[in-house]
Amino acid sequence: MPLLRSAILHTPKNPFTDEGALEVYPDGGLLVENGRIGALGPYAEIRAQHPQVETRDLRGGVLLPGFVDTHVHYPQVRVIGGLGMPLLEWLEANTLPEEARLADAGYAQEVAREFVHGLASHGTTTALVFGAHFREAQAALFEEARRIGLRVVSGMVLSDRLLRPELHQTPEQAHADSSTLIRRFHGKDDLLYAVTPRFSLSASEAILEVCQTLQQEHAGLRFTSHINENGLEIATVRELFPWASDYLHTYERFGLVHRHSVLAHNLHPSDSELQRMGAAQATAAHCPCSNAALGSGFFPLRRHLRAGVRVALGTDIGGGTGFCLLKEALQAFFLQSVMPGGEGYLMSPAHMLYLITRAGAEALGLEDQTGDLRPGKSADLVYLRPPEGSPLEAVLRHSDSLERALSGIFALAGADCIAEVYRAGRTVYRQAHLTAGRGV
Ligand code: GUN
Ligand code: ZN
Repeated sequence: MPLLRSAILHTPKNPFTDEGALEVYPDGGLLVENGRIGALGPYAEIRAQHPQVETRDLRGGVLLPGFVDTHVHYPQVRVIGGLGMPLLEWLEANTLPEEARLADAGYAQEVAREFVHGLASHGTTTALVFGAHFREAQAALFEEARRIGLRVVSGMVLSDRLLRPELHQTPEQAHADSSTLIRRFHGKDDLLYAVTPRFSLSASEAILEVCQTLQQEHAGLRFTSHINENGLEIATVRELFPWASDYLHTYERFGLVHRHSVLAHNLHPSDSELQRMGAAQATAAHCPCSNAALGSGFFPLRRHLRAGVRVALGTDIGGGTGFCLLKEALQAFFLQSVMPGGEGYLMSPAHMLYLITRAGAEALGLEDQTGDLRPGKSADLVYLRPPEGSPLEAVLRHSDSLERALSGIFALAGADCIAEVYRAGRTVYRQAHLTAGRGV
């Protein structure tokens, strides 16, 4: 791959804690060698160091790190947009009937194709994917991610109560199917396995014990589930686990809250839950579009940060409203800016970029691999180029700084601006109408 010449931005540090976290190169050069980033800097410097390498001129657009989605449901692509219902009603009426259809392996394969294309075409190169309740459907997702070349962390969803009978497994089946999938996919071709009980509401103690056993039997597994999303959900979990001090305790009791745990939502945590999540170095996956679409509530970002809890972003489709992490970051910004009680955290574009890139890599323990553009990382890149004559093109042309241009990108960019996406230096998506004449 040649030397890429473009405006380049990334956040190799955490803007919530570190000064100068956003690095910008208005006329940048990024060298890709064997799927990794070989060099990054001002174009003239990189060019002088590598005079023999051919330059690909991408000026007019912007290069960003590939996006990292930390919460997105594979079986829900076809039911995005069921608006206006609270969580438990939405699950029953809109979502679980579709998830049950993935019992059919042929159906699941089609959905897997649509889902993985949805990720790639929106610039997502790494995702923690909430899987399917069926072993073959889960295998179909891993196979499709491998075929396209995305980095996917995922697992079969485990549940044994209160959903629909077709979606339940016995603890023995849950253990056997998960073990088969772990042996087949975990640690192979940029795929990792995540132990995934749907939520404590649908998981008995026996299922949570299976999750614990799987973690003890295999090294390097990730863990993901839902927590503290909706009032009725939280009250039901309290009734189902009378011994638990709170929702988090239902996972903690089985050793499921740790550095590689990602818990989605966490809109209504107690101070104690936040303190314990922070101490465990677990991550909250914030899904602002979903939280507004299901009327679930405001995410207390400031309280998470104060307690030292890691935070990353998730689109949470089908509860969320699409695959676009740029939109998700904008929605996070909106909700923080209108949060009642003055408790919101006013984010800069650097915070927003960090949340959809490096924060997700950190959540998954993959920060040495992806999430920013430091030399040595995998060449996971999004080339963003607005359509000719679009408002975003005008904004980019007239911004007086690249940081200002970045907030224009968050305000205006959609899938039509994702021109090309690279994973480990290979093109995993390219807009069909683009030609060499436009520089891509
Ligand atoms: N809690 C349990 N399952 C789900 C789901 O599919 N979506 C959301 N948003 N919350 C859940
Ligand atoms: Zn979810």
